[in-house]
Amino acid sequence: MKSSAIAHSNIALVKYWGRSPDHSPDLNIPSNDSVSMTKIGLARDMHLQSHTTIEFSDAYEEDHAVLQGENLTGRNLERILSVVDPLRKSADIDLRFKLASKNDFPTQAGLASSASGFAALAIATAAALRIDVSKERLSTFARLGSGSATRSIHGGCVYWNKGYSHETSFAEKICGRDRFDMNALISIIHGGKKEVASDIGHESASTSPFNEVRIEKSQEQAKGIKKAILDDDFSTVGRIAEENCKYMHAVMMTSSPPLFYWHPDTLGLIKAIQRFRKQGLECYFTIDAGPNVHLLCRPENSDELQKKLEEMKCVSRIILARPADDSHVTEEHLF
Ligand code: DP6
Repeated sequence: MKSSAIAHSNIALVKYWGRSPDHSPDLNIPSNDSVSMTKIGLARDMHLQSHTTIEFSDAYEEDHAVLQGENLTGRNLERILSVVDPLRKSADIDLRFKLASKNDFPTQAGLASSASGFAALAIATAAALRIDVSKERLSTFARLGSGSATRSIHGGCVYWNKGYSHETSFAEKICGRDRFDMNALISIIHGGKKEVASDIGHESASTSPFNEVRIEKSQEQAKGIKKAILDDDFSTVGRIAEENCKYMHAVMMTSSPPLFYWHPDTLGLIKAIQRFRKQGLECYFTIDAGPNVHLLCRPENSDELQKKLEEMKCVSRIILARPADDSHVTEEHLF
């Protein structure tokens, strides 16, 4: 009973930030709908994806998980179990597992490594246990490991319905990768780990006086951006994504304790993107829970914008990403 999966990361265009107070925090049910683009990195060494192999066998005496060559214990192992246990229960199988997983990009740097990681885990586990469920249902299991992983099950552009229970908080595809073509130039200004895990931020979001407004606006923005994606209206998608990113960071900065994920160079990049736009190269920014900036543009402007970013001293690396296909099972096993 061994299976492997490859899952892609995603960039949120309308962000998930904060869990609904009406449910157990373990369920990661969000306070608002969110929308993302599942992305594949075009760099030779970085596709922004996670590769996971899991095997259930009576040869194993305990559950054992290795990420990037390191044994997982404590909270990290618990998060794995939060996805595997419900699947193992629904398959009615009582076997221990061995798991290996690797990312081809820095973990916990605000590049959504947990999104691809937990999506790969849910896909590989369901396949190993021979559980045949829809992708929407699979996304609910990925959610138990990490909220953003809910969306990484699908390729292209994805909508996560906040829902009102475990079963109804799932992600669905808005459109496949060719219907709405957008590039992301991910500008790495600081490859290190983010200072505060998103987990902590989800808890403190409600302490910001602006959070209620953000939730209300995000609901409208999620519906608006979905329509703009289906209309192939890049300008509206970019404008909404920027607005929503600013709302999330305003909440982060005004929570207690306050969370400042930005680096001074993050603001430098925001200013540069505004400048490029004034010069006639249409592009927008979005930033997750970290210092790095995603520049969003149409593919035809990508080369020119990349050159401009390369001229900026603060940018240590640029990864070009485009919409990915669905995350999937692979026959390539890690052990
Ligand atoms: C800012 O709880 O999914 O990226 O598990 O720490 O990766 P990690 O994050 P998660 O929160 C993601 C927050 C966000 C916005 C988003 O992806 O919607």
